[in-house]
Order: sequence, then structure tokens, then C-alpha cells
Amino acid sequence: MVSTTSLAGGGPRMTRTAEFESRRARLLRGGPPEAVARLHARGRLTARERLDALLDEGSFTEFDAFVQHRATAFGMDSRRPDGDGVVTGHGTVDGRQVAVFAQDATVFGGSMGEAFGQKVAKVMDHAVKVGCPVIGLNDGGGARIQEGVVALAHYAELVHRNVRASGVVPQLSLVLGPCAGGAAYSPALTDFTVMVRDTSHMFVTGPDVIRSVTGEVTTAEELGGAHTSGTVSGTAHYVADDEADAFDFVRVLLSYLPANNRDAPPDYGLRADPSVTARDLQLDAIVPEDPGRAYDMRDVLRRVVDDAELLEVQELFAPNIICAFARVEGSSVGVVANQPLHSAGALDIDASEKAARFVRFCDAFGIPLLSFVDVPGYLSGVRLEHEGIVRRGAKLLYAYAEASVPTVTVVVRKAYGGGYAVMGSKHLGADLNLAWPTARIAVMGAQGAVAILHRRALSEAEDPELLRKQLVEEYENDFATPFQAAQRGYLDAVIMPHETRGRIVRGLRALRTKELALPQRRHGNIPL
Ligand code: HXC
Repeated sequence: MVSTTSLAGGGPRMTRTAEFESRRARLLRGGPPEAVARLHARGRLTARERLDALLDEGSFTEFDAFVQHRATAFGMDSRRPDGDGVVTGHGTVDGRQVAVFAQDATVFGGSMGEAFGQKVAKVMDHAVKVGCPVIGLNDGGGARIQEGVVALAHYAELVHRNVRASGVVPQLSLVLGPCAGGAAYSPALTDFTVMVRDTSHMFVTGPDVIRSVTGEVTTAEELGGAHTSGTVSGTAHYVADDEADAFDFVRVLLSYLPANNRDAPPDYGLRADPSVTARDLQLDAIVPEDPGRAYDMRDVLRRVVDDAELLEVQELFAPNIICAFARVEGSSVGVVANQPLHSAGALDIDASEKAARFVRFCDAFGIPLLSFVDVPGYLSGVRLEHEGIVRRGAKLLYAYAEASVPTVTVVVRKAYGGGYAVMGSKHLGADLNLAWPTARIAVMGAQGAVAILHRRALSEAEDPELLRKQLVEEYENDFATPFQAAQRGYLDAVIMPHETRGRIVRGLRALRTKELALPQRRHGNIPL
């Protein structure tokens, strides 16, 4: 035990304390002051400033602050900063434990070498061991060129851990600067990626490498900026206005997620009153009489979930489908809904992939699924067929069919063709299937069906338009209704829109103890 005398004594012990204090002060300052100033001038924060902004005040506990690299090539032996360019540890967000790592772009461009890789591996292992989410703050150039294959090995170690942790603890990534190579691939393997407008970029190789390899001239923004990643490639689940907005999104997202796959999602302990409210009655007037008219599906969703709150993910990508977290009776649900405002809510490749990944996330973490259906079917077209809408659209079928969490589906209007089957139908394993009187469940819409079934009669008719109108009306009345499905028990109930919230509340209560015995297998083989 250290005696008071030795602590108070001078000589070597004071020198050690002073050295420790000075190393710690240097550590807290981060990289060279000019590099920090450059970062600030570009609207970015340092690794430590980011952790301060994200975590509850004073909660951060650091690991491995004095770790240094052991590389010698390219003059690396003359530069061995403590921490090696990544800050790792654990802390809390709204009082809940998270593991974190933050790449420091001011040290070797945030690139990952051996020591850096070992630090990130330790924090990932910690997250899995204690069962808490892991949040990566990425801002770096990928594998550290000076450390060669050792750097590659450690990125491969990281992605191995990303995959092993997938479906075990939630993994969230923030991409907060130019992220190339492994610094892009590792986030892509995690559950959600958040980027910041103008300052975040994400690509396998940057514009300079592309110019030298293919001769193409592009900018970082055009190639993999936050806007491109949020709208074109779909790699970003949220495009933030600035870093503060990105941290806010992460905090709200975490409020919907369990700590791990054995834990229940957060339950804010509310007891909903399922009796009909004035707000419920507004649902009766949202869907237009004319099946060709669009409306905003969010107007439906907001009237069903707690406090009208939805947290959309990939909002800017494939807007023809909505994927959002919400709460019912204070408990998290994942909402998947066709959006008639875009492409009439039809399913294409992007929408299928977006929703499939969301459904699989919710299923992995025990979050019940609510589907709202208004879908004219899968989109057709040569381009889509050639791009693999069969193979890639099948992902959504797979994801719904695989889901074992409580699943409630409400057919609001159209449920045509493959769209009916895929969007949480009874046949794929949904637990509670409801439809509104406005539901139209059929192989296809009236116009298409009449044109195929009555082609000859229409071509021979004296007044083909009149006949078409009559046949369409007949089809609409007799066929495109919820009752054919209800007669067979494919729907559990046809309900008035204003009854929806109450039915969902009671349905989810009844399903809380749902258990499914699934056959043993190593894993399924989702079409990729
Ligand atoms: C070492 C790197 C580095 C890297 C950047 N830097 N990338 N140092 N290894 N991979 C350093 C630069 O030398 C520079 O240091 C500082 O970071 C900032 O870089 P700049 O180029 O000045 O910044 P910017 O113009 O913003 O461009 C950022 C960038 C670009 C787009 C990330 O630097 C780039 O393309 N880097 C190479 C990316 C790459 O190809 N990485 C390897 C991929 S392979 P100074 O000291 O001058 O400030 C990989 C394996 C994945 O990652 C395996 C997955 C399983």
C-alpha cells in the first residue's frame, strides 16, 4: 500500500506523477493543434469532443489511453502518439450503457493499424460480453498504409466482430468525415449508419484513387457524400444537418432499442386506453374514395402510435416504403408501411431491400412488427427485371417469412398481387391480420384485370368504354374487397379505421408471450 509519506515525498515519485499528468494532458488535447484547427474549420469535432457531445456528462470511462503502435516503417518510429488515433471505452446515453470508439482524424488520418485495431476489438468484445449497444464514430482513411498487412488484418478482425455481434447487440455507426475502405465497410455491416450533410463521405476508394484506376473524375460529395449515401445508395439511414443533430438522432434511436437480443425493448410503462377517441375517428376520413388518389400514409401511422411519434430510418431512400420505430403503450414497435405518395406505394428493389433489412433488425431484437398495406404490387419494367427484382425483391418475402416476433398487419387500401403476399400476410406467418372496409385485396387492380379477362368482349363491344366501366365496377364491388380474404380467415377481422389503435393495443398485449418453436439449422440462406 502507498504510504502518505511516499505520496507527499519528492524525488522520482513526483516526476512520475508529473509525467503522467503531462501525458494525460497531451492525450486530452488530441492530435497536432493545426490538425485540430483544420478539423474545426471544416465543421467537424475531435474524437473526444464527439464523445462529450454524445454521452451523458461525466459518464465516459476510457480504455487503453496509453496504447501506442509498434510500427517502424515510413518513419513511424519517430511518431508514437498515446492512444494511437482512436478513443475507446464505455459510457451512458440517457443512463443506459453503451460501448464506444471514436476515430481521431488528427492522428494518421484516423487510419487503423495494429494497436488501434486491438483497442477497437477490445471495446467490441466488451459490448458483446456485457450485452450493450456499440457505437462507432468513424472518421478515417481505413487501413493504415504504413502498417501494411497488419492493418488489413485488424480491419478484417473488426468486420469479423461486426458480423459476430450482428443480431446480438445493436451496432450503430456515425460516419463523420471522409471514410474509405474498412472505415466504410465496417459501418456498412452495422445496423444503422448516420452521416452529416457536407462533411461526411463514405466510399470504398476516394476520388483520387478512382481517377487513377478508371479515369473517372468525381468529387467526394458526388461519390459518397451524405446526400448521395442517403438518397442514391441508401447506405446512410439518417442524414443529419450537423454533428449535434447526428448525436440527437442516435440518442432517440437508442431509446427504441433493447440493450441486446436477450433483453426486452425499453418499455415506458404506459397503459393505453383502447376505447375510441376523437383522434381515432379522424382515421375514417383519411383514405380517399378514389383508389387512384394518393394520401400520406404518415397521417394514418401517427394516429395509431403513441404521441404521434415516428422515427423513420432511411427516410430519403426508397420513399415508397416507410420504415419507422414507434411505440404502442410505451413499448417499441417497428412500422413498415407502403407510401402512396411515391410510386403509388409500389414495391421496387430499393423498397424491398430497405424494408427487408428493417424487418430483420426488428426480428433479431424482439421488436414487434406493424405493417400498413396500400400496395399496387411489385413494379414492373425491363430495367427492374434486369437489375434483379426477382432475386432482390424476394428478400422482403424472406424477411417477413422468417420473422418470429409478434406481427400485426392492417390492409388500408390496395393489397394487390405479390404486394398482398409479401406485406405481412397471414400466409407468411403474421399473427393478427386486419383490414379496413376500403381494402382491395386481389391479384391485380380492376383496370388491369378487366383488360386481361375481357379482352375479346371489349374488342367486340359496340361501346367498349361503357362495357369497360361496367366490368370495372363489377370487379371493384365483387372482387376488390376485403371480404374474399375474410371469408377464408386470411384476415382475422374487417374493422373500421377508428378501431385500429384499440385492436393493435389489445393484439400486442395478447401476443406479448408469443413463442415459436423453429427447427434447428445453422442459418437460412436469404437471397442476397
Ligand atoms: C494512412 C492515411 C490514410 C491511410 C489518409 N491518411 N488515409 N494515412 N493510411 N489509409 C492520412 C493522409 O496521409 C493525411 O495525413 C491525412 O490522413 C488526411 O488525408 P487527406 O488525403 O489529406 O484527406 P482528404 O483529402 O480529406 O481525403 C481523405 C481520404 C484519402 C479520401 C480518406 O486520404 C484517401 O483516399 N485515403 C486512402 C484511403 C484508402 O485507400 N485506404 C485503404 C483502404 S483498404 P497528413 O499527415 O498529411 O495529415 C482498407 C481495407 C479494408 O481499408 C478491409 C476491410 C475488410
